[in-house]
Amino acid sequence: MTQDRPHIPVPLAAILDTVGPVTGVWLDGTFGAGGYARGLLEAGADLVIGVDRDPLAFEMAGVWAGTYGDRLRLVEGTFSDLDTLAGMPLDGVTLDLGVSSMQLDIAERGFSFMRDGPLDMRMGQTGLSAEDIVNDASEALLADILFHYGEERAARRIARAILAERAKARITSTLRLSRIVEKCLPRKKPGQSHPATRSFQAIRIAVNNELGDLEKVLAESVDLLLPHGRLAVISFHSLEDRMVKRFIRAQEKGRELPPGIPVPESMLGRTMKKMGKAIMPGNDEVRINARARSAVLRVAERLA
Ligand SMILES: C[S@@+](CC[C@H](N)C(=O)[O-])C[C@H]1O[C@@H](n2cnc3c(N)ncnc32)[C@H](O)[C@@H]1O
Repeated sequence: MTQDRPHIPVPLAAILDTVGPVTGVWLDGTFGAGGYARGLLEAGADLVIGVDRDPLAFEMAGVWAGTYGDRLRLVEGTFSDLDTLAGMPLDGVTLDLGVSSMQLDIAERGFSFMRDGPLDMRMGQTGLSAEDIVNDASEALLADILFHYGEERAARRIARAILAERAKARITSTLRLSRIVEKCLPRKKPGQSHPATRSFQAIRIAVNNELGDLEKVLAESVDLLLPHGRLAVISFHSLEDRMVKRFIRAQEKGRELPPGIPVPESMLGRTMKKMGKAIMPGNDEVRINARARSAVLRVAERLA
């Protein structure tokens, strides 16, 4: 990692290999440290629109963004507003979902259970924070969030413990929340992830409406991509990956029609086809960047 490239993008090389020649206008919906945007520009994109909901991403890009002149346009916003942010038909869209290394590493952002910080977790720094949800949501809602977004089997137990603790004093720090969760779960065995991983993931997803935004951007990409345009999505957990996989499958299949009725291809409403298989990072990539471990890349092409 260097000062001006603090996030190691995963797996950029795989994206460039799978999407084929990069030309025209691409939108990088998760600009972060700009690794994908740079990769796309260097691979031949005429224009890259870099979108991020976190203003910090653009502050950091200030060091190098100017070298691309008007080939790089930076826009603050959420990718779920793709239709208004793009402003033109697109040759490609990339989404590298979740939080960046910078967001995780800055304790004050409140994403990490390893560093003490305020319980924030807002990528866009507006709206409800993790502190609001942890302290104000009902026990049932907290349990649902932990169960559905974190696939945490001890969701009810953890929600109960959160309520008991917040009755003593408002929960405002990441380490306090992490300890509450840890006490509800068996001790971590070697090689297992930290016991608070699933709960922190769940609360972060709820704070940032991550699955709602993903559902919306996928649907919008159908209308915005030009024929043969590419959609490349990298997800980091099974909830996201399942949503992307089902979306691509539904677009490939088109309308549900009664079997046996001859229908011309044009009426089937097929809009996309998948390009290659899902790609996971190789061992070498994981060795360089442990956060790549759970990444899955899926690419689809807009049909003419
Ligand atoms: C994994 S990082 C992307 C890293 C980037 N590919 C790179 O090479 O540096 C994810 C970034 O997407 C942003 N992000 C996540 N959800 C978003 C959304 N709904 N709209 C816009 N940006 C989002 C985060 O703020 C974060 O900066």
